Amino acid sequence: MTAWLDTLLFGIYPYICLAVFFIGSWVRFDRDQYTWKSDSSQLLRTGSLRWGSNLFHIGVLFLFFGHTVGMLTPHFMYEPIISAGNKQLMAMVSGGIAGLLGFVGVSILLHRRLSDPRIRATSKTSDIVLLVLLWLQLALGLATIPLSAQHLDGSMMIKLAEWAQRIVTFRSGGVELLADAGWIFKAHMALGMSIFLIFPFTRLVHVWSGFGTLAYVLRPYQVVRARRLNLPPGHLQSQDRRA
Ligand code: HEM
Repeated sequence: MTAWLDTLLFGIYPYICLAVFFIGSWVRFDRDQYTWKSDSSQLLRTGSLRWGSNLFHIGVLFLFFGHTVGMLTPHFMYEPIISAGNKQLMAMVSGGIAGLLGFVGVSILLHRRLSDPRIRATSKTSDIVLLVLLWLQLALGLATIPLSAQHLDGSMMIKLAEWAQRIVTFRSGGVELLADAGWIFKAHMALGMSIFLIFPFTRLVHVWSGFGTLAYVLRPYQVVRARRLNLPPGHLQSQDRRA
């Protein structure tokens, strides 16, 4: 890939995607809260939704945490515990299983959305585009596994992770690390960033709420006071007078 295209896609585009992702989500939450939902179609037809949705969510949630921890943990932090090669193998096996589950799930969801007339009729263009992109993204992710198998020492994984770490910490030099990464890796990374870009304009916003519900674990207790009925005589009267 020519150097300028690499710079555009992996040096500048990540920041455009991240800015649209954060500011766009904030603006939509602020201005259009009634559109902030997963737009569930469960009421229209449950059938294949149960398998499709569960498989997809199990796979994709595992991949989300796997990608975050796997790509953003600096090499020196895990080096004493696990070698780069073993870490890559772990990512390939666990990510491969999760990717397959997610891929089967999203295929069921896409088939259902396109073939069921009730769901099709109530689908927005963005619902269909999103499922197609997720399908492609999972397919590309799975296609990276045979590529990774060609360099089991973990050297390419370290470069890709270092790129991601430089991007999120606003350090230069990330793009150069991708010079010899295969096009499947690059296509997967570019499409992955595009999912962040379209995120605020789709039903994906419900992901924020999914994680937001975890705040309930930390929420302070709600203080409930019983209404006192044995008030001293004249109390209510004096309050009424003040009002
Ligand atoms: C900005 C977003 C993303 C980036 C930068 C990214 C990057 C990567 C990289 C570098 C690998 C190869 C890891 C290695 O073996 O060295 C990978 C693998 C994979 N990705 Fe992504 N990815 C992104 C988003 C996604 C999303 C949204 C999905 C699913 C919907 C996904 C699914 C997969 C799968 C199934 C694999 C193969 C298994 C694995 O190695 O974990 N990725 N990704």
